Amino acid sequence: MTETAIKEMKTQWNERRELVESELPKQLRQSGKPLDETLTESMEYSLMAGGKRLRPILLMAAADAAGAKGEDFLASACAIEMIHTYSLIHDDLPAMDNDDYRRGKLTNHKIYGAGIATLAGDALLTLAFEVMTREDVSPEIKLAVIQEMSAAAGPQGMVGGQAVDLESEGKRIPLEKLREMHLGKTGALFKAAIRSGAILAKADEKTLAALTDYALAFGLAFQITDDILDVVGDEATIGKPVGSDERNNKSTYVTLTSLEEARRLAREAVDDGLKAIAPLGDKAKFLGALLEYLISRDN
Ligand code: IPE
Ligand code: IPE
Ligand code: MG
Ligand code: MG
Ligand code: MG
Repeated sequence: MTETAIKEMKTQWNERRELVESELPKQLRQSGKPLDETLTESMEYSLMAGGKRLRPILLMAAADAAGAKGEDFLASACAIEMIHTYSLIHDDLPAMDNDDYRRGKLTNHKIYGAGIATLAGDALLTLAFEVMTREDVSPEIKLAVIQEMSAAAGPQGMVGGQAVDLESEGKRIPLEKLREMHLGKTGALFKAAIRSGAILAKADEKTLAALTDYALAFGLAFQITDDILDVVGDEATIGKPVGSDERNNKSTYVTLTSLEEARRLAREAVDDGLKAIAPLGDKAKFLGALLEYLISRDN
């Protein structure tokens, strides 16, 4: 990957991150006066705390790769970020990973308490589906996207993977099970983001299949790198505690293999992802550069 390609990718990422960040509070407040202002404040606190905004960016980039314009699907992009932010608020709760910092700020429950934090997560998840209904596309496409995102967030996807994660604490699970867990807790939302972008863009079957394969590789490479950063990362840069996995006796690619093997497996996943989108050519240039950059990231 050339340096110019990475630079171009970062510029587009930043532009679209700003776009998403200006849209998120509007979508949050669009439904009218909430019953409880503290609840909305706590939702806004986590939603606007920063973050890489990767899932909305991927949704838009997949739409581009399928021949449409990513910016046309801002409502769905915001919706997937709301689902992701809810998953982070719950992941940090004392009953789960019990972490004090997220996105460089105190975690939601540290400010608002575990009760409101739990409800803020619930509210972001449900609001996400209301936001999706605001997308200006046909009812058929809307339904397909809602189906995609709801399945990904649920027991066969993110929440399922999070349950496996909790139940694997302190155990040596087989590598195959770890892979499944990663594809659930992290991969499912990436897959939903990418497939939703493709569906919104009315992608043909072949494009959708290529992007789905890319998404699976992306999710795996991303979570392996997250496991690595939990060990070797810099707290200020990653914006969350280092050593959280060790403290919680988590099963991760680093604890079940080694740093070196985890790096090799992340690289392998990146190569699989690049191969998957090769037939899409220049339209998928951003996706290629992003995946390549991702395993060398420091946050
Ligand atoms: C963190 O996701 C949770 C994982 C799935 C590893 P991100 O690293 O995308 O978090 P933000 O959105 O940038 O804060
Ligand atoms: C959780 O993985 C992924 C989610 C579904 C939120 P981690 O527990 O490793 O995520 P971080 O490291 O706290 O962001
Ligand atoms: Mg966790
Ligand atoms: Mg965690
Ligand atoms: Mg982690």
